[in-house]
Amino acid sequence: MTKPVLELKNVNKSFGPIDVLHDISLKVHSGEVLCLLGDNGAGKSTLIKTLAGVHKPTSGQILMDGQEVLFDRPKDAADRGISTVHQFGGTFPLMSIGRSFFVGVEPTKKFGPFTIFDRKTANEVAVKAVQEFGITRIDDGDRLIGGLSGGERQSLAIARAVHFGARVLILDEPTAALGVKEAAHVLRIVLEARKRGLAVIFITHQVMHAMTVGDHFAVLIRGALAADFRKGEKSREEITDLMAGGEAMAELEAEIEAHTNREHPAVA
Ligand SMILES: Nc1ncnc2c1ncn2[C@@H]1O[C@H](COP(=O)(O)OP(=O)(O)O)[C@@H](O)[C@H]1O
Ligand SMILES: [Mg+2]
Repeated sequence: MTKPVLELKNVNKSFGPIDVLHDISLKVHSGEVLCLLGDNGAGKSTLIKTLAGVHKPTSGQILMDGQEVLFDRPKDAADRGISTVHQFGGTFPLMSIGRSFFVGVEPTKKFGPFTIFDRKTANEVAVKAVQEFGITRIDDGDRLIGGLSGGERQSLAIARAVHFGARVLILDEPTAALGVKEAAHVLRIVLEARKRGLAVIFITHQVMHAMTVGDHFAVLIRGALAADFRKGEKSREEITDLMAGGEAMAELEAEIEAHTNREHPAVA
């Protein structure tokens, strides 16, 4: 297997007296989707925020292409190609597609004398970038972000990150607030990003979504890495149990059933 684009070595993270991440070692590869799984409060968001320069590890190392990196702020991680897309796409409802595409991104040499105030060029570049990603319904850069569906916003944000050279794409529950069709759309875009050679870190609670796109799975339980395995190494049931925080689903179901029967005894 190729050298990991990103690697955590024995990463710990505490907030004052609260230890949140415990000795996490994990490798992230280009052209793969890593599904980060775990119950609420397991430390998933803390882990990706540590990778994205929002938090600094209390101890341990983060390596990119085998070299240690130190991020003082999110911009440092972004400059190295680590890009986080949040649940609602992180875009602004009253802004146009073309305008939002270039927010916070300095024009690069690639665009020559281009500036973000060049509406026509901004629109052309944005529409072309999203269409190349298979989002053909977005064809007018003047349309407002607020008029896009949740899935379209997510997809636009992903296309934007890829366009500006992301190497590691971090998605924190991108499908959580979406309907089935829209979620499928976002999953397709995730697969497209993988096809283009990005490393994708995908956080989800939905086992089907994880199993559809995941090449590699890491499960956090109370801040520790409880499992790290590849596609095909565990059954859907095992993954579901791990996602529920290590509780066997069957036990949980039996408990719920026993409880329900007490509340509403079956009519004999
Ligand atoms: N800034 C912080 N200060 C103190 N505790 C925090 C902070 N951020 C997260 N935590 C704690 O870390 C734990 C993991 O949180 P989080 O990473 O958000 O979990 P997840 O994303 O898996 O639901 C929780 O107990 C949370 O309260
Ligand atoms: Mg979270």
